[in-house]
Amino acid sequence: MSQTEKTMREKTETAVAGEPVMPDVSVNLVRPNEPVIGRVVESELCTLGKRKSAAFIRHVAIDVSGTPLAGNFRAGQSFGVLPPGETDRGKPHKLRLYSISSPTRGEDGEGNVLATSCKRVVDEHWDDHKLFLGVCSNYLCDAQIGDEIRVTGPSGKRFVLPVDPSQHDYVFFATGTGIAPFRALSIDLLEGGYASKVTLVMGSPYRTDLIYDEQLRELDEKYENFRYVTAISRETQDDLDRRLYVQDRIKHDPLGTGPGSLSEQLASDRTLIYVCGLAGMEIGIFRGLFDALGRDAASAYVQVDDEIAGDPSSWNKRMINRQIRPTKRVFLEVY
Ligand code: A2P
Repeated sequence: MSQTEKTMREKTETAVAGEPVMPDVSVNLVRPNEPVIGRVVESELCTLGKRKSAAFIRHVAIDVSGTPLAGNFRAGQSFGVLPPGETDRGKPHKLRLYSISSPTRGEDGEGNVLATSCKRVVDEHWDDHKLFLGVCSNYLCDAQIGDEIRVTGPSGKRFVLPVDPSQHDYVFFATGTGIAPFRALSIDLLEGGYASKVTLVMGSPYRTDLIYDEQLRELDEKYENFRYVTAISRETQDDLDRRLYVQDRIKHDPLGTGPGSLSEQLASDRTLIYVCGLAGMEIGIFRGLFDALGRDAASAYVQVDDEIAGDPSSWNKRMINRQIRPTKRVFLEVY
């Protein structure tokens, strides 16, 4: 963004009610030039059995006890992994960041074990159509219990809970492995005993691709203030004879527009929206908000220039932070 655009944005951005106060968060306690060693303590597929798609997604948990990472990562942050070996050009492989799927207390309750949900990248080279295996995702997914992994972090200051989580309600939109930080944030909110309403909307191609589905259903059963809603894009839903993207759930909510529904929650000044997953999904969500709430109510989350407000179908990613400005009540992590 140029300086002029930045100034214009600052000028046109209007403060909205319910903006959160965000904490100062520690980052980069372990830097890439001096990684520390963690040890794999758990690795299991975190999708359901009888997969319909070719995706392999693993819950990989790493013990970082005795390192500066222990007790010093927060739900919503990421950590770095340095895969061994070199690129075709003889350079050491670069650091890759993975979202932490563990709550702030870690998998172990003491902040010593952090986990991520890692999807194997499997593709073809475009020029010679030979098999391409993503270096770091396959390294992590291949790792056996006891293997040592070079890790860094934590990273990310913004995709965390506000200073006082109880001041807000939360709508989380995830696609695919974008679920990782929401497992973490949801557990922090629910175990923290806050009365905040939390709705997690998770999108995947098939039911069998849902990640942490069983655990999230259990949380939905256990906590009255937590709702887990799925949007399946290549099958019809249990409650509806059509395919859905996460943003379609704003309109097609099993609870309609009644008590506890997304529409009701989104109309409240307490609500914050967090989005994590495929780049492009944020545009769909902004359209969904506009469509379901109308421009005025949606402006609590996204403010849109007059020239494009009449035609949401023309919106694209390049307009974000220019003609389409998310407010401070929206947190985006798309990749
Ligand atoms: P689809 O691929 O059927 O079009 P995964 O990462 O496991 O593939 O899941 C990503 C999910 O997000 C899929 O259900 C995918 O649908 C869906 N998706 C793809 N593009 C968008 C978008 N622009 N907005 C919201 N969801 C999307």
